[in-house]
Amino acid sequence: MNPEKSPETAQLIYGGKTYELPVVEGAEGERAVDISRLRKESGLITLDTGYGNTGACKSAITFIDGEKGILRYRGYPIEDLAEHSTFLEVAWLLLYGELPARGELDTFLEEITQHTMLHEDYRRFFGFMPKSAHPMPVAAAAVAALSTFYREADTEDRIYRAVVRLLAKMPTIATYAYKHSIGQPPMYPRNDLDYASNFLYMMFGTPCEEYSVDPVIARALDLLLILHADHEQNCSTSTVRLVGSSLSSLYATIASGISALWGPLHGGANQKVIEMLERIALEEGSADLFLERAKSKGDTTRLMGFGHRVYKSYDPRAAILKETCKEVILAVGGSSRLLEIAMRLEEVALSDDYFVSRRLYPNVDFYSGVIYQAIGIPVNMFTVMFTMGRLPGWIAQWIEMRNDPAFRIGRPRQIYTGPQERPYVPREER
Ligand code: CMC
Repeated sequence: MNPEKSPETAQLIYGGKTYELPVVEGAEGERAVDISRLRKESGLITLDTGYGNTGACKSAITFIDGEKGILRYRGYPIEDLAEHSTFLEVAWLLLYGELPARGELDTFLEEITQHTMLHEDYRRFFGFMPKSAHPMPVAAAAVAALSTFYREADTEDRIYRAVVRLLAKMPTIATYAYKHSIGQPPMYPRNDLDYASNFLYMMFGTPCEEYSVDPVIARALDLLLILHADHEQNCSTSTVRLVGSSLSSLYATIASGISALWGPLHGGANQKVIEMLERIALEEGSADLFLERAKSKGDTTRLMGFGHRVYKSYDPRAAILKETCKEVILAVGGSSRLLEIAMRLEEVALSDDYFVSRRLYPNVDFYSGVIYQAIGIPVNMFTVMFTMGRLPGWIAQWIEMRNDPAFRIGRPRQIYTGPQERPYVPREER
């Protein structure tokens, strides 16, 4: 659906002149002032550091109402998709706008299954990485390197192939990076397993013994991937759109998204949450003491997994994951110590004026790490798991951007604050 041009306009009065600015309205009633002609007409640009109030595109993929804690992919509530769907069905939905028909899904699954292996020459790539490397930059470099093996996705057909390759190979890349870091041989994918089970097999299997996948864990992992699959114009997705807008290779573009996701204020927060919980556990579990540090102005400590630029109420993904945490811990018979600390932190924070007044609630990363840990995923792989989940969202946003009739290279403006023109005088002569 195209955004409606609202009959209303906004007026800006500047330099004694009144400028009429068009207002556009989205499908859910959200409104934007269209300032695209403002500079031409008035010489003004807008300034919005961190893009907190800037719409960078029109998109029909994901809807978030941060006030009400609503998240929908293509109109479907995240709660319904979490309960009834699978990750690859959701991937199709994000990419093509509708739930796939049975035959479409079967073909899609078949094609993804056929492309899970990595080229043997490409496999050597992992051997050149230091064993101590964090798997996120290894994954980013490996995905960028796919562009050295495969042709540019520049036609409908090649784009489809690249989409299938990326989705199919990502779990293999992730587990190869991990296996290399611990000095084990990589496991070849198994085409008789579903997406999540195949990942678990490659992650935890060894050539020495049979590894059988626990279906409860596979379902929990699939759910995690669904919940991470898209989140509209966040830092990494905006990076993908910006890099992709120069028409650079799809593989290189996705690699830039992975790099953006790595940071602790974005996808890297899930690793930081578990490190925080472990630290609290070591310090004898004082949630209250930790919260005092997170609140203190002189201390840079933050309550990781809390707060969100868009959600000013409970992140619906965190609500789903909190319940899943309990189920997974029960299923694997693991320790619930970190979950207990997390729940205590949440309880104290949500009754503390500092967090209440700033409307800081648990986000998706608050409970996801507890599940990953219960499953046995090492901490430095947490953000790689997020990467696997976010992949279809990045690609869907990239495709949507390329098909947008208003498509043009991304190029923000700035307000320059440096020195004005000055003569060149070598420092020592001054
Ligand atoms: N702990 C303590 N104080 C916080 C926190 C936190 N987690 N988050 C925000 N605040 C405070 C912040 O200090 C500021 O206080 P004041 O107004 O007194 O200066 C106020 O709340 C507003 O924060 P902000 O930094 O201006 O908010 P933002 O929208 O720029 O940042 C955020 C959003 C997610 C980066 C931030 O909340 C944060 O750093 N959270 C912890 C990291 C985290 O969990 N990141 C994962 C985000 S969700 C998954 C994803 O998208 O990747």
